Amino acid sequence: MSSNSEIPKHQLHYHIVPPKGLLNDPNGLIQYNGLYHVFFQWNQHGTVHKNKSWGHATSKDLLHWEYHEPALEPDEWYDKDGVYSGSAVSVQNRLYLFYTGNVRSVDGSRESYQCLAVSEDGFQFEKKGPLFKHPVGYTKHVRDPKVWQDKEGIWWMVVGAQRDDLSGDAILYQSTDLLDWKFKGSLMEEELFLGYMWECPDILHFEEKDVFVFSPQGLETNEKQFQNIYQTGYITGKFASTGKFIQDKKSFRELDKGFEFYAPQSFIDENGRIISFGWVGVMYPEVEAAVPTRKDGWLHALSIPREITYTDGILKQQPVTELEKIRQPNPKVIHDFTKQVIELPSLQSELLIDWENSPTDFSLIIREDVLLEYIHETRRFMVSRTNWLTQEREEREVRLEKGLENIRLFLESSLIELFINDGEEVFTLRYFIEEESRQLSVSKAEKKENRMIQVYELEL
Ligand code: FRU
Repeated sequence: MSSNSEIPKHQLHYHIVPPKGLLNDPNGLIQYNGLYHVFFQWNQHGTVHKNKSWGHATSKDLLHWEYHEPALEPDEWYDKDGVYSGSAVSVQNRLYLFYTGNVRSVDGSRESYQCLAVSEDGFQFEKKGPLFKHPVGYTKHVRDPKVWQDKEGIWWMVVGAQRDDLSGDAILYQSTDLLDWKFKGSLMEEELFLGYMWECPDILHFEEKDVFVFSPQGLETNEKQFQNIYQTGYITGKFASTGKFIQDKKSFRELDKGFEFYAPQSFIDENGRIISFGWVGVMYPEVEAAVPTRKDGWLHALSIPREITYTDGILKQQPVTELEKIRQPNPKVIHDFTKQVIELPSLQSELLIDWENSPTDFSLIIREDVLLEYIHETRRFMVSRTNWLTQEREEREVRLEKGLENIRLFLESSLIELFINDGEEVFTLRYFIEEESRQLSVSKAEKKENRMIQVYELEL
């Protein structure tokens, strides 16, 4: 794609972005009647966190998205201050959306209602209102219902919550008809204290394991962990037919080591793949207020769709294979890149870097701002960028026990998704630079190493 001065410089091309206003969590992900439906938290009226409705986009191929009228707007007594996050299922060709109705009173107190809306075609929704009473023992921070059906045909709903003692939790409901829901208490077999509120819970089912993914708020920064405002991560275990999640061990692993990834949701498509989108993303309010795209009237994006697999206690995330279809022919291939500067063919590019043996050290500077650095001795992999508010450098890092084997990087003019070692570690980040730079600088290669970089231009 040639550079075009008419296109705002931070525009994204192959990510889902709000047509205008602010986007946050992915909602109601489903493949229904031959179309992928992605709903998203959307403030159509401005770039602040207010007036949340469900925006709506559909696609046949997970690449080309068509935007529609909002599916659900905050227009009932039980959702007047926000149609908050939730999920979708389909039964007998009907689409059921479960969401949280957010209500604020004049005195500042809040109510939350877990609600249902039904559709016969995936585009027109009829609201059915709240499904059950607020659970005892929990504050009004109860939201983000995720519904699924088990092999016996029973429906389950996991909801993010805060206990009366102000600790985070997830609670569970059970149903046979999606209308009548029975409260089953806390999801966790053993209490797990992690922060003050768990948002966007989701349970992923693999043959050998179940994985509970959630977004806890209030984790304390700990050395190199939990450095963002809020985190997203998972614990592995088994979801028992009693409705309890029996965790393997009390370790919480962050899903994405970058700066902004938050509130992901998964769904199973018709090919049986577990696909997830996340919000890119969550930021400290003052950093969010300074995002340059606000001048152009829009804010935030969803991640590219990622296929999620499980191996040896770890969730791997990889871009769905469909994304290979937007690679343009004739990638740039570089074998010897001792002190090389490579010109990116486009600001929409995919980079593939492969090593036959783990490299000694490696670094790559993207567009004179984002630095990827690997130090083999300590196995540390670091990503740093310039913060667009403070203009200071900030860094995230991870330890790669088995060394660095490969990198796959999806670049846009203001967003990067970096998949390391076949998606065992992922860094997602926004970056905003004012220059038109297309430079990639590879350094620290002292001799010709056994590696190769391929750069594909991406175009829809
Ligand atoms: C997560 C979240 C959800 C809530 C939604 C509101 O980012 O706070 O818990 O439903 O966003 O937009």
